[in-house]
Amino acid sequence: MTTQSQAIDKTRMSADTPSSSRRRIEHIGDATLYLGDCRDLLPELRADAIITDPPYGIAHSSNYGASWQRVQISGDESTELRDRVLEHFETVAAFGTWKTTPLPNTKATLIWDKGPAFGMGDLSFPWKNSWECIYIRGPNWSGFRSEGVLKGHLQVSWESHGRVHPHQKPVSLICHLLGKLPSRFSILDPFMGSGTTGVAALRLGRKFIGIEIEQRWFDVACRRIEEEARQPRLWHVPSSSSPVQEPLL
Ligand SMILES: C[S@@+](CC[C@H](N)C(=O)[O-])C[C@H]1O[C@@H](n2cnc3c(N)ncnc32)[C@H](O)[C@@H]1O
Repeated sequence: MTTQSQAIDKTRMSADTPSSSRRRIEHIGDATLYLGDCRDLLPELRADAIITDPPYGIAHSSNYGASWQRVQISGDESTELRDRVLEHFETVAAFGTWKTTPLPNTKATLIWDKGPAFGMGDLSFPWKNSWECIYIRGPNWSGFRSEGVLKGHLQVSWESHGRVHPHQKPVSLICHLLGKLPSRFSILDPFMGSGTTGVAALRLGRKFIGIEIEQRWFDVACRRIEEEARQPRLWHVPSSSSPVQEPLL
């Protein structure tokens, strides 16, 4: 098993550097969080699998009333950033949209049915964009053979009701994906946003590394992951997620 192995060069954390390359490192329980550009940091980091929600490549900015209204997500101009960053990782689950090209070497595409959520896109169009793709790549996925359309994982739409990031994903959905990977696997999210993958990873007892380029979302991720790390663990996380076939009779 490989995990994050080396500390990054702290001289590059100088406050004089532009905000896009300024860095901070936080260690919270089994999570290590980096403020910075994943393109700079990834060569120094190791993990067994990636679960991430990269910029979709659609230059989206929300047009409904939230504090992030008309704020565009960094790197959302094309899928180039996603493909370049994920190129060297074998075991990947990455969110995406049918509007752009799938992740290269995708083995399967899952659909996340967002249910009654708001749905991004043209709000005057008479159907909501109420589902998203999850591209699955690599050999290490195993476990109970469940539906490829993932339902019942809901995310509140409104900031006033507790949403903290324009592209926030439900923790339960990430837990579902994590459950199909060996429990000894360390998990990396190079596009961490508000830290949902980190919250899910800690909840299931996994080691986690997260990277976020924007200070605003990095701070939210630290807060959410700290809250999760403080939660008492009421159950034992099994050491393997592989199913065991019991005798049928
Ligand atoms: C779609 S959002 C992830 C949202 C996350 N799933 C959540 O639940 O909050 C993608 C995030 O990637 C960040 N990002 C974009 N380019 C980046 C880069 N080069 N390095 C690190 N983070 C980056 C954006 O600032 C944004 O917060």
